[in-house]
Amino acid sequence: MTKEWTVSGTHPGPEAIEAAAALLRDGALVAFPTETVYGLGADATRTEAVARIFSAKGRPSDNPLIVHIADRSQLDDIVLPYGELATRLMEAFWPGPLTIVLPVREGAVSPLVTAGLTTVGVRVPDHPAALALLAAAGCPVAAPSANRSGRPSPTQAHHVREDLGGRIEGLLDAGPTGVGLESTVIQLLGDHHIHILRPGGVTADALKAAAPEATLSAATEEAPAAPRSPGMKYTHYAPHGLLTLVQGGSREEVAAWINEALRVAKQRGETTGVLTPEEDAPRFAADLVVPCGSLRHPETFAANLYAALRAFDEAGISYILAPTFPTQGIGEAVMNRLTKAAGNRIIQI
Ligand code: TXA
Ligand code: MG
Repeated sequence: MTKEWTVSGTHPGPEAIEAAAALLRDGALVAFPTETVYGLGADATRTEAVARIFSAKGRPSDNPLIVHIADRSQLDDIVLPYGELATRLMEAFWPGPLTIVLPVREGAVSPLVTAGLTTVGVRVPDHPAALALLAAAGCPVAAPSANRSGRPSPTQAHHVREDLGGRIEGLLDAGPTGVGLESTVIQLLGDHHIHILRPGGVTADALKAAAPEATLSAATEEAPAAPRSPGMKYTHYAPHGLLTLVQGGSREEVAAWINEALRVAKQRGETTGVLTPEEDAPRFAADLVVPCGSLRHPETFAANLYAALRAFDEAGISYILAPTFPTQGIGEAVMNRLTKAAGNRIIQI
């Protein structure tokens, strides 16, 4: 049985927070909202508890977990001394969607959390319910996204219920999360270089602005993050239907190409879907057209993406096409997730 509490996103009640924190201290699994996506938490110091995260999610054991803390006072117990660049980025972005991979203090967290690496990813989430829960629990909390492995990450409590209901002890429901995509994961090379292992809620431009003298690099398809960020090698976020992205030409040309491909797909008996910025939704003739944010506000793509991908599964859609989305700002992280959801299938027209 999963115990559920509905709390306000801004003023979570102390009773629910204390009950959920008590479960964490007992070694149980509790899903909770963060500003990015819902996380599936367990006491990071207890191997039996962390092992249950992997089994509840069906997650490969070589993919390390992010450790969540309420504030920086908990950090020195977990990681070895770090430099000035790390300090500056924490000051600029914590609490917030930035995970910093740092050398781990031996024995500070379960070896399952780090998947045997000598580093650990840490962040302070920017969500009142998450911060209250972490403070009440008093322990560092390992928390991957609270979805079954391979599925889109949960941005609403009912996504968690669908994937993990009955497999976890607690679920704190504070409504939809804000950013909608996971945190940016970075590793630092000394005090002068930032390597982005996973793009996310903090954009490359924001990192540059906070540390103008540091150089920046990013994992790409050609030079993937593995083995530095083992998780990036797995298929992620995929809907059950076959998703393919379509790129090139004007928005009108892309829409015309997609409509023709949908017509052919329908003839062979597929149920069809299109994922699109809302401005272009009226152009498409599919069984299900899912508008996903507005071209005028790229952050709305991020906020809506995972729920949109899940909507195709709810409707049983077998064949899905999507135009590529603009990559300014957080659009880069949106396209990173969308490309993975599409298994790298991008058709150039
Ligand atoms: O926004 C988020 O980051 C959410 C919320 C719940 O905080 N969490 C999340 O966790 O997305 P997860 O487990 O789904 O993704 C963690 C990512 C994986 O790509 C993993 O490989 C990487 O972080 N990671 C964790 N520890 C690492 C380490 N020591 N070195 C390199 N990559 C690491
Ligand atoms: Mg995940």
